[in-house]
Amino acid sequence: MKIVVTGGLGFIGSHTVVELQNEGFEVVAIDNLSNSSIEVLDGIERITGKKPLFENIDLREKAAVQEFFKKHTDVVGVIHFAASKAVGESVENPLLYYENNVNALVYILQEMIKLPKANLIFSSSCTVYGQAEKMPITEDASVQPAMSPYGNTKQIGEEIIFDVANVTNLNSVLLRYFNPIGAHSSAEIGELPLGVPQNLVPFITQTALGLRKELSVFGNDYPTEDGTCIRDYIHVVDLAKAHVIALQRLLKEANQEQVEIFNLGTGTGSSVLEVITAFEKVSGQKLPYKIVPRRSGDVISAYANTDKANDVLGWKAKLTLEDALEDAWKWEKKIRS
Ligand code: UD1
Repeated sequence: MKIVVTGGLGFIGSHTVVELQNEGFEVVAIDNLSNSSIEVLDGIERITGKKPLFENIDLREKAAVQEFFKKHTDVVGVIHFAASKAVGESVENPLLYYENNVNALVYILQEMIKLPKANLIFSSSCTVYGQAEKMPITEDASVQPAMSPYGNTKQIGEEIIFDVANVTNLNSVLLRYFNPIGAHSSAEIGELPLGVPQNLVPFITQTALGLRKELSVFGNDYPTEDGTCIRDYIHVVDLAKAHVIALQRLLKEANQEQVEIFNLGTGTGSSVLEVITAFEKVSGQKLPYKIVPRRSGDVISAYANTDKANDVLGWKAKLTLEDALEDAWKWEKKIRS
């Protein structure tokens, strides 16, 4: 069964390609290499023994999307990761984000609904909940006004999918990720942030290697136990596996609604200082850090209630924060060696 993975050479995409191939799916990875490297294909091959088909396509080019689906009429599912995801950049360049994250989705949907089976797994984010009133966050928590163009593109993406499903054969699972971290335990694939990492864990691993002087902890005056923000850090391999399960649900036509939403997290919140302590434990070295003022746009706390994913998908995160940090650390050391 042929599955298209857009952003297939990216961080979550590449790990999902591995899990799909492990389950026997034929994968076509689409990527424009804007935030990834062609060498990721070799990493995937070293893990699975197979290179996925690859198409270098920019999904903002409508004609290229049309041509792709004309060529691959036997596609039974699409997992759509390709998107820009830097919050600060989205504030600076909103049109890039709307073009990349919204136009591309529209073009893909326009072609998918012509297929006999239109099954879409969409990468959404816990950012749609903003600062939720209640922790842990359930899927029925309200969607809050987006705090950035990036966050808005995820909300708009979800709405587009609901509207299209209403009037077409589209079936879709919207996966709201909490904080994906880690790397494949083989250290063959992992995260490759461009420039200075904006996210916590790549910044930590680069600091530990001496590429950055020290980590800035954004605020220790939040109303949490140690004053730093709480997030739900989920190992990227657990996350990738959830995509395969969600896809299988659509392929088996086991979904109860045309569009279903699931939170993907571990269900456990960790503070920034707890992440630092866990990293120091797995790496065996002290991490230099300093406390700096809060970063604008950060919510105090976000962690998932994962009951729905556990009960309905039969999926549960198995790997711990320590596992994820250990794999991220192994990966960082390997790519710098
Ligand atoms: C961020 C985005 C989120 C997006 C996700 C994608 C914001 C507000 N949110 O999540 O919408 O889906 O990335 O990757 O940008 N931290 C530090 N020092 C650092 C970096 C981070 O203290 O150098 C802290 C942050 O304040 C936060 C935690 O670490 O409390 C996690 O930050 P990060 O990894 O950037 O993820 P989010 O902000 O949760």
